[in-house]
Parts: sequence; structure tokens; C-alpha cells
Amino acid sequence: MAEELLEKDSKGQGMTKGSRMILVGPPGVGKGTQAAFLEARLGLKHLSSGTIFRAEVEAETDLGRLAQSYINHGELVPNGVTIEMMAKRIRSDEVRKSGFVLDGFPRTIRQSVALDEMLDAMDMRLDKVVSISASDELVLSRLTGRMGCTKCGEIYHAKSKPPKREGLCDKCNGPLIIRTDDKPGTIIERLKVFREQTKPVIDYYREKGMLQVVDGSRTAEEVYTQIVCAEE
Ligand code: AP5
Ligand code: MG
Repeated sequence: MAEELLEKDSKGQGMTKGSRMILVGPPGVGKGTQAAFLEARLGLKHLSSGTIFRAEVEAETDLGRLAQSYINHGELVPNGVTIEMMAKRIRSDEVRKSGFVLDGFPRTIRQSVALDEMLDAMDMRLDKVVSISASDELVLSRLTGRMGCTKCGEIYHAKSKPPKREGLCDKCNGPLIIRTDDKPGTIIERLKVFREQTKPVIDYYREKGMLQVVDGSRTAEEVYTQIVCAEE
């Protein structure tokens, strides 16, 4: 399957190695799952703003302390620090060479405009923006049951992707944890924030003619195929 997709890519369709793309969508829709596939299979650097914030929280940095209170309430971390944190990574030599898949950034119009400006300044273009869609009921069921590896970040689900040994990562043996923001009340707030602040980002890229919408309710492999094969 992967070879077929790369063969198709080499003819100028879908995603290729070195592509620059954004995954946008509600909490729990599968952005992190798909970004991990794109990194493993196409070598695109996976840049997840949420994962970077959680690492800062874990390391007890000033940024981590600031971010934690917002994350625990399901609110967005302020634009200024978020843009600065992502810009540092997007501008790095490694990311310029590998291409990237942005997961969870941009999620406000101000972040989208800042991303445009930083890419313009580097004479780089985005290849596409993929909106992964699913109902609130589905994303709620996906977040209830999610576990993540504290060492390598692999994502599991109690029903759709259970680990072989309870509480331990199949890949690296690391302990699995449930995220502090995956509580029902916080999930509801994250969905509200998505509707109010991130839906306009989807419209922003639709108006630019860059948006591809994929059906996130399918299996993870089916969603991946939609992302890499479909035209904009
Ligand atoms: P972030 O970490 O980005 O969280 P999110 O957007 O709420 O999304 P999630 O990570 O919860 O879900 P996902 O779409 O990655 O789904 P996953 O692949 O895990 O942000 C967290 C917080 O950080 C924010 O609330 C905010 O406070 C802050 N923040 C982050 N970025 C920011 C920014 N730019 N500006 C300001 N603040 C920011 O999948 C979910 C589950 O479903 C898993 O268990 C998985 O195994 C399963 N699954 C996935 N796909 C499928 C499938 N197709 N079929 C069946 N199961 C599936
Ligand atoms: Mg995620």
C-alpha cells in the first residue's frame, strides 16, 4: 500500500516526502494518530503544539507552568508564546529539509496569519491543509479510553487500539497514562473552544483554496489513505 501511494505521489498527486501540511480538527478526531503515520511513512517532521506544551509542563519550565493552567481548563494557551514556540521549530534546518505536519497549530486566525508570515519570510509554501471531521459523539468516545506512552508518545485506545500488555507501550515498554485534560468537563470545554476559535481557521484555508476535508469516522488506515491520496 505505502509503495502504491508513493508511486502515485511521484506523479504529482497527494502527499510526498518533504511536503508541508497542517492537520486541523476537533479534539480526539485523530490528528496525532495521522501525524504519526505521516512521520513514520513519509518522513515529515511531526510538530504537535499540544505535545510540546506537555513536555514543557513535565520539565517544569516557565512556559510549562503558564501552559498548564490553560490546558487543564481546556482553554488555548495565549497566541504570543504559542507562535514563538512553534516558529523556533518550523525555522529549524531539520524541519526545513524534512517538511512538516503541523498538528494542533495554527488554531486561531492570529496563529494562521503568523504562520503565513514566517513561511513567506523563508520563501516556503504550505502544500495543503487537511481538516479531519467527525461528530462530537464520536470524538467523545475516542477521548474516553485514550492512553498515551509517556516515553515515546505512541497513542492507544482501550477499544480500538488496546496495548498488548495492560498499561505498557507495545513499542518501548514505557508506562501508559491518561491525559489530565481528557476529563468529560474539560473535553466539553475543548470542543467549545474548537467551535469558537478554530473553525474560523478552517474557513480561512477554505477561502485560500487549500483545504481538503476527510472523514475522520473511518478506520485510522482509511483516514490515512484519504489524506495522502485525495486531491485538494
Ligand atoms: P492538543 O494536544 O493539540 O489536543 P487536541 O487538539 O484537543 O487533540 P487531541 O490530541 O486530544 O486529539 P487528536 O486529534 O490528536 O486525536 P488522537 O490521534 O490522539 O492540545 C491540548 C491543549 O494544548 C489545548 O487544549 C490547549 O490548551 C493547548 N494547545 C495546543 N495547541 C495550541 C495552540 N496552537 N494554541 C493554543 N493552545 C494550544 O486520537 C484520539 C483517540 O482516538 C486515540 O485513543 C486514538 O487511538 C483513537 N483514534 C484515532 N483515530 C482513530 C480512528 N480512525 N478510528 C478509531 N480510533 C481512532
Ligand atoms: Mg493529539
